[in-house]
Amino acid sequence: MKSLKDKAIAAAGHIRSQLSNVPEIAILTGTGLGECADGVLVHTQFAYQDIPHFPVSTVEGHPGQLVIGALQGRQVAVFKGRFHLYEGYSPQEVTFSIRVMQELGIKQFIVSNAAGGLNSQFSSGDIMIIQDHINLTGRNPLVGPHEPNWGNRFPDMAHAYDPNLTKLASTIGSQLNLPLQTGVYVGLLGPSLETPAEIHFLQTIGASAVGFSTIMEVIVAVQAGMKVIGISTITNVHTPENPVPATLEEILDVARRAAPALQQLIASLVKAM
Ligand code: HPA
Repeated sequence: MKSLKDKAIAAAGHIRSQLSNVPEIAILTGTGLGECADGVLVHTQFAYQDIPHFPVSTVEGHPGQLVIGALQGRQVAVFKGRFHLYEGYSPQEVTFSIRVMQELGIKQFIVSNAAGGLNSQFSSGDIMIIQDHINLTGRNPLVGPHEPNWGNRFPDMAHAYDPNLTKLASTIGSQLNLPLQTGVYVGLLGPSLETPAEIHFLQTIGASAVGFSTIMEVIVAVQAGMKVIGISTITNVHTPENPVPATLEEILDVARRAAPALQQLIASLVKAM
């Protein structure tokens, strides 16, 4: 049986065989945020199911496509659609795309998601730059046999979200007159949403936004030595003292409406990175 590394090499080889320019920056988009790649001058695209060993996404709002091309003159690989632990994928499946990026030699990674706001100062539609994360999924993609060629057994997470990229995003936000929030993202397993008591707990431990993605991918990207910037679209704001149910329709709708601002931010980031 092929090892995970062999599978990632095969997937990257398939992608590379159809490219003249190898991408420098990878972008992974989340719920309702696939349009963030719309400005890309497409060179090649792959349906996930056509990439060897690639998992196939099942959730609404996650089309499952890799778009490779130029954005602001930079070569980018946009992974539209991701895999979640709550779909039943293993942490290795959830992070397969990151291993493919690593095998392609990509060193910079922009990851976006939709998240619930925990900070009472946030409004739905806000964009938050992730400064740090708390992993409450109970899972870790580095559990299991260690592949020394992929990086450290115990990767340091002190600067998981690159401080220079975070600063750059803040500068760009000011230039674009685009208000940006900053904060800590807490990742849960999902898929049930949070109870008011859980919201209260997550606020108490210092989280500003909550979601069901990103953590696995960032851990692997850090092990792979990538510089990471994480961006959350706040699609709903939790008020545990007055709980209001959040629906998938609402989350998708807010994410889609925030996508143009996110697209603008990502394009400017890519140009400046
Ligand atoms: N909780 C978890 N994930 C989410 C939420 C939320 O409230 N909103 C968008 N993604």
